[in-house]
Amino acid sequence: MESVAVIGGGQMGSQIAALAAMAGYETNIYDKDIKNLKSKIKFTEENLMNLVEKGRYEKTHLENFKNYLKTAESIDETINNKSFVIEAVVEKLDVKLQIFEDISKKLNEDVVLATNSSFIPASELAKPCEHPSRFINMHFFYPPIRMDLVEISYPKETNKETIERTQNLGKDMGRTVVTCKKETPGFIVNRMLAALTDEAYKLYDEGIADFKDIDIAIKNGLHHPRGPFELSDYSGLDIHYYAKLKIYNETKDPEDYPKKFLEEKVKKGDLGVKTGKGFYDYS
Ligand SMILES: NC(=O)c1ccc[n+]([C@@H]2O[C@H](COP(=O)([O-])OP(=O)(O)OC[C@H]3O[C@@H](n4cnc5c(N)ncnc54)[C@H](O)[C@@H]3O)[C@@H](O)[C@H]2O)c1
Repeated sequence: MESVAVIGGGQMGSQIAALAAMAGYETNIYDKDIKNLKSKIKFTEENLMNLVEKGRYEKTHLENFKNYLKTAESIDETINNKSFVIEAVVEKLDVKLQIFEDISKKLNEDVVLATNSSFIPASELAKPCEHPSRFINMHFFYPPIRMDLVEISYPKETNKETIERTQNLGKDMGRTVVTCKKETPGFIVNRMLAALTDEAYKLYDEGIADFKDIDIAIKNGLHHPRGPFELSDYSGLDIHYYAKLKIYNETKDPEDYPKKFLEEKVKKGDLGVKTGKGFYDYS
């Protein structure tokens, strides 16, 4: 049975760790902001209690969450004696690279190194590291304890055992697992969502419709549960901003540069639900 380390306990990592613990895996989580981590874990526990009451989870899931989820005060403490590492820190290549370079030197070859990154491929993180065959993307959706999907994607160097162990862990966490056979930016869902969001941002930028009306149109006309602006607020505007910036830095096409209204919000710290304000006000 795997034992799981999660590095990064923001809105994604805290709940990914919760899913592992709920499935009965010994789980340890570390975040450099311990106060934020504790509050995210408390938030997850309250959510879980609510979902148990609604019958979506069993009482044993809540007991496992309490028994198997531990927090650590350093990365070394988190990864100690673990067989499977999931990284879920901020979407910045240099931060992730530093973590993987450090831990890949310390961990045995058979420890799987997975990243929850939305846009950075495992091959890029594996480049300067030892044993690239154990690197894989394991991509959850926000909020992980409610969203039933994990996308797996892997570079050609990744070995079969790593792929199978990742698929099995995802299934044991109670998620539906889909596997991309080649690396592609955004995997399946975000690649398709990016096309929709780009078009929604363009409509708003061109002054064709207010963002609220664009959301209403998509919800009522396409039966999507949330509009693209609501969804951006939920996933975090910084995620969209940095993803777009990364594409721009590769293409240098001004069309790919993040829209000015998005850049202004990110610079002001209006990142969506997590900060209380994005396109909509959540205060
Ligand atoms: N938000 C989403 O909808 C979503 C969905 C799927 C995947 N992701 C991916 O998950 C990852 C995390 O996103 P999030 O939404 O949880 O962001 P978040 O801002 O809520 O959390 C990021 C966490 O990383 C921590 N961190 C930063 N540097 C660190 C370091 N050196 N060591 C330890 N912790 C560190 C921060 O303190 C913070 O708590 C990103 O790679 C993102 O692309 C996000």
